[in-house]
This record gives sequence, C-alpha cells and structure tokens, in this order.
Amino acid sequence: MRLQGKVAVVTGGGNGIGRACCERFAAEGADIVVADLMEGPGNDVVAAVEALGRSAVFVRADAASADDNEATMQAAVDRFGHLDVLVTSAGISGKGYVSDGDVAGTLERMASGDGSALADPATAFLEMPLDEWQTVLDVNLTGTLLAIQSAGRRMGGGGSIITLASIAGKQPEAGTPAYSVSKAAVWMLTKFAAKTLAPSGVRVNAIGPGFIETNMTAVVKAVPQLEERFMAQVPMARFGTPREIADTALFLASDESSYTTGEIFHVDGGFYTE
Ligand SMILES: NC(=O)c1ccc[n+]([C@@H]2O[C@H](COP(=O)([O-])OP(=O)(O)OC[C@H]3O[C@@H](n4cnc5c(N)ncnc54)[C@H](O)[C@@H]3O)[C@@H](O)[C@H]2O)c1
Repeated sequence: MRLQGKVAVVTGGGNGIGRACCERFAAEGADIVVADLMEGPGNDVVAAVEALGRSAVFVRADAASADDNEATMQAAVDRFGHLDVLVTSAGISGKGYVSDGDVAGTLERMASGDGSALADPATAFLEMPLDEWQTVLDVNLTGTLLAIQSAGRRMGGGGSIITLASIAGKQPEAGTPAYSVSKAAVWMLTKFAAKTLAPSGVRVNAIGPGFIETNMTAVVKAVPQLEERFMAQVPMARFGTPREIADTALFLASDESSYTTGEIFHVDGGFYTE
C-alpha cells in the first residue's frame, strides 16, 4: 500500500498507460480522478478502480482546455479533500488520432500525408500542415502545462507530478515532427516545473517511454515494415507494456522517490544504450 491515503489525477486515464497508472495506483491504496475525452473507457476505468476497493470519479475533460483542467483538479479536492499525485498521460500522436485501436482508420490518415511515419521524412516535415503542428502541441505540450498549473495550485503540502515525455523527445526519428518536438518540450517543461515548485514540496519528473503496446502503437504492430523498423532500435526486441510504465510511475508517485525531482526515466527496453 505505497499510496495509502493519496489522491491521484490521471489525464488520459481512459486508455493505455493512463489506465494502467489508475489501476496500479488504486491497487496501492490511492483514490483516483480519471480525466479523459472518452467517456466509455473512462467509466470502465472507474469500475476497475472500484473493483480494487478504492474510489474513483470520471471527469470528461479536454487536456487542451484551461477550464477543463481546472474542473478536473477541483473535482479531486471536492470529492476527496486533497490532491497528491498527477499523471499527465493525455496525448496524441497526430491531429487525427483517436484512441480507439482503429488500425484501418489510422492507416488511411497516414496515407493522406498528415506528417506521418509512413511518408518520406523530408516530405512529412516540409509539407506538414500547420494545424497538425498546432493540434499536437495544444494537447501534448499546452495540455501538460495546464494540468501542472491547475494541480500545482492545489498541492498545498507537497505532491508528485509525473509527465509523459517520450524517447521521441530526444531522437527525431522515433516520432513525427510535431510529436517529437512536443515531447522534447514536455521534458524541458518538466525540468522548469521541478525547479520552480521544489520549494513548495512538489516534485516533478518525466517518464520517457519507448515503444509501449497501446492503441497509439497498434498501427506499428499491424504494419510489418514499421514494426521491424521500430524493433531494430530496441535491444530487448519487444514492446513494453503499460504496466511497466505504471510501475515506474508508482515509484515516482510514492515517497520512495522523495529526493528525486527534475529527472526523466526512459523505460525503453534499452533504446538509449548508445
Ligand atoms: N505508447 C507508446 O509507445 C508511447 C511512447 C512514448 C510516450 N507515450 C505517451 O504516453 C501517453 C499515453 O499514451 P498511450 O500510448 O497510453 O495512448 P492511448 O491512446 O492508449 O491513451 C491516450 C489517452 O489520452 C486521451 N486523450 C487524447 N487526447 C486527449 C485530450 N485532448 N484530452 C483528454 N484526453 C485525451 C485518449 O482518449 C486516451 O484515453 C501519451 O502522452 C503518449 O504520447 C506513449
């Protein structure tokens, strides 16, 4: 029970890594606010948390909205009385991304050349539509900033904030132009927040996952040429699981990491071994 008595908000908590964090944290004694755009998956996660004997509430929230972030963090205080842990897992790989595991739809969007991993890299970069860039930055970067601001204002006696960066934040080829830049910026934002909030007892760390098996990477698994290209970069030669990210998040959320702030943890099967 490493999070006994703690309250955690997880943005993007309805699927993938966010969902795994909700369930892992609940199993360790935390009550959870599940924030997501997707109501069905969000409510499923609430039920899963309750089945583990903890309380949870779903808030339908757009990560890119300042008002929605305020409502999400306030829901933690209203329902549970305090807010101790934030995980910012809401994220998109591209403008049209929806976390529904629809591989055919994703491939169709990729073929239409929206700055995707299937296009020739120079073309994907030079022809990237501005709204692709803007939407990805709005959700991945501004969404992370807004969540940190709204949560930080409510973490009176201290707390732990965990952002989701990526290996793509340090290696351009691991993502699209907009995605990689958004994740590099999340890492700098994490360091900035860590330094600024340290005096108030709030720790801020990033997880920079490698290739993790979720809806976001379903298309990679479905296209042999992509899977081969991605796995060639991973010494452990397999995808990671959401649970493996949640285990790291649990360490960062708990008091076991009480002297750790401003760090990035690459949970990546050895991607960064060079
Ligand atoms: N899967 C990977 O290999 C991988 C690798 C590195 C980083 N990440 C990052 O981890 C985070 C979680 O990704 P995942 O793989 O679990 O993806 P996922 O698609 O399984 O889950 C993402 C969740 O975020 C939600 N979401 C998307 N846009 C939102 C918005 N505007 N407002 C609120 N919720 C929104 C989705 O509905 C979904 O529930 C993302 O930030 C992603 O960039 C993933």
